[in-house]
Parts: sequence; structure tokens; C-alpha cells
Amino acid sequence: MARARSLVGRVVIVTGGARGIGAATAAALAKAGASVVIGDLDLEVAKRTADEVGALALPLDVTDRAGFTRFLDEVEKQVGPIDVLINNAGIMRVGRFEDEDDRTTAQHLAINLHAVIHGTREAVRRMRPRGTGHIVNISSAAGKAGFPGGATYSATKHGVVGLSEAVRVELRGSGVEISVVMPAVVRTELAAGLPESRFIKPVEASDVADAIVKTLQRPKFDVFVPRSLDATFRFTRVLPRPAAEWVARTFKSDQVLFGASPEARKEYEARAAASAPAADRENAG
Ligand SMILES: NC(=O)c1ccc[n+]([C@@H]2O[C@H](COP(=O)([O-])OP(=O)(O)OC[C@H]3O[C@@H](n4cnc5c(N)ncnc54)[C@H](O)[C@@H]3O)[C@@H](O)[C@H]2O)c1
Repeated sequence: MARARSLVGRVVIVTGGARGIGAATAAALAKAGASVVIGDLDLEVAKRTADEVGALALPLDVTDRAGFTRFLDEVEKQVGPIDVLINNAGIMRVGRFEDEDDRTTAQHLAINLHAVIHGTREAVRRMRPRGTGHIVNISSAAGKAGFPGGATYSATKHGVVGLSEAVRVELRGSGVEISVVMPAVVRTELAAGLPESRFIKPVEASDVADAIVKTLQRPKFDVFVPRSLDATFRFTRVLPRPAAEWVARTFKSDQVLFGASPEARKEYEARAAASAPAADRENAG
């Protein structure tokens, strides 16, 4: 087995690193010796997290694509050439598809997909000439299967998987790596009020962080958290669609988003609804 790559001194950016999976990842990477920069919309929380974990926090709205580029330039100026970009910022609003308004759809596309496309392209442009670097895109189990109650979310996360697969092939031989991370339910604010399913056991943000650290040390493309999710998808994919849907119904995995408690999600849903200021401005004008 190849020796694990050292993370000491590597310049790593975590978008949406103020809380949740991003914060746990920033902490794990700082512990492994990386120079971590958190970019987040919520600068106050980002600064608190950065102080706690030993990272730097800079303001970032990933839906402001010109601003995202300026943020990357600023990191390179202040800290050094970017070795790793973790496109983690994301939102998930839940509800029946036909009840979703267009603003919510546009916000999901802007944060979860367009920003990931933009960040990935910017990273490739900076890393390819240097022949080194690693892009980590955070998708979801909803990037491999459509979850009712999260149709647009599933669409964006499938988009992240498709983007990453295509870019991986374009990067062959360049020295630049790309990975796509597909967690099941993770105990963060984004997953507030989701019911538990026997099929999808929730994991901790630190489990995703550990998987990301391992992926940077020994690059691989598909990263499922928990790892058993890979086998679950392989199994359901060989079944005829009605049988796969029967399994989902039986284990209630089709109710993971639909069965969410609106009361428990109130705070998160309000925050998520205000998470794409630049996209909102663009779509209003
Ligand atoms: N929690 C889960 O169950 C789960 C499962 C699978 C995948 N994911 C994915 O993991 C990623 C992180 O999710 P989380 O659960 O940690 O969520 P979270 O809400 O706890 O954290 C997301 C962070 O992103 C930031 N953010 C939101 N919009 C932003 C913007 N426009 N610009 C910059 N920062 C922004 C928020 O301020 C927040 O700090 C998301 O892409 C999510 O889709 C989460």
C-alpha cells in the first residue's frame, strides 16, 4: 500500500466550515497539521470555530461567484497556493416538490451545484499548472438516489456526482485529484428533525471528517459515509425498480425527508432560506 500523504503545512479551504460537517473537517485537518481556511457566510460563527480549531476564517458567499474567486485569491495571497478545496457549503430545505417556490429552487441550484461547479473549475485552473492538488466535493446519499421530500436537493447532489465523475476523467495524468463524498444522514443542524430509518443510521460530523482526512492521505474517488452505504446502493441498484422502492418503503428510507418534524426544523429552515444572498439579488434584478 502507498504511504499516506502528509497533510502538514498543506493549504486547505473548507467552504461552509463554520458549523456541521465543515467545522468537524476543519478541526480534523488542523489537527493533522494542515493550514486550514474556513470560508462561510456566517462570519461570526466561522471565526469562533476557527479560533477553536486553529484555523483562519474569511467571509464567503459561495453564490457570489466573483466573490468566491476573490476569496480564493485572498487565501493564496495570505496563506499560499491552495492544495485542497473542500466544496462543502450546502443547504437542504424539505417539503413536497410541488409546494417549493422558485426562489428556493434557485437557492439550492446556486449553493449546492453552481457554486460547486465554479469552485471546482477555479481549483482546477489553479492546481493543474502546478501538477498537484485535491478537490473534495461534498455530495450526499441523495446524489445516488432520489429522496422524496428533497427532490431539488437530490437533483443538485446528483449534479455534484456527475460533475465530479466527468472532471475526474479530464484530470487523469494531471497530478490533481478529485473525490466525491456521499454521507447518509449526519447529525448536524441541516438534518434537524429527520426521523430515523432502520436502513439509514445517522452518523456524526466527525465520521465524515475522518473519511475526508483518510481520502486526502490516500486518494480515492467515491467516499461513502458510512462505508456500508456503498453496499446498500449496489444491492438496491441490481433490484428491479418496484422491488427497490418496496425495500425503501419497508425500511422507511423513503420517509427520511418527508417525515421531518417542521417544528424541529424551523430554525434551520429559516437560516437555510437566507443562505444565498448574491443569488437572491441576481434573481431579483
Ligand atoms: N447533515 C446531513 O445529513 C448531510 C448528509 C449528506 C450530505 N450533507 C452535505 O454536507 C454539507 C454540509 O452540511 P451540514 O450538514 O454540515 O450543514 P450545516 O447547515 O450544519 O452547515 C453548512 C454551513 O454552510 C454554510 N453556508 C450556507 N450557505 C452558504 C453560502 N452561500 N456561502 C458560504 N457558506 C454557506 C452555513 O453558514 C453553514 O455554516 C452540505 O453540502 C450538505 O448537503 C449533509
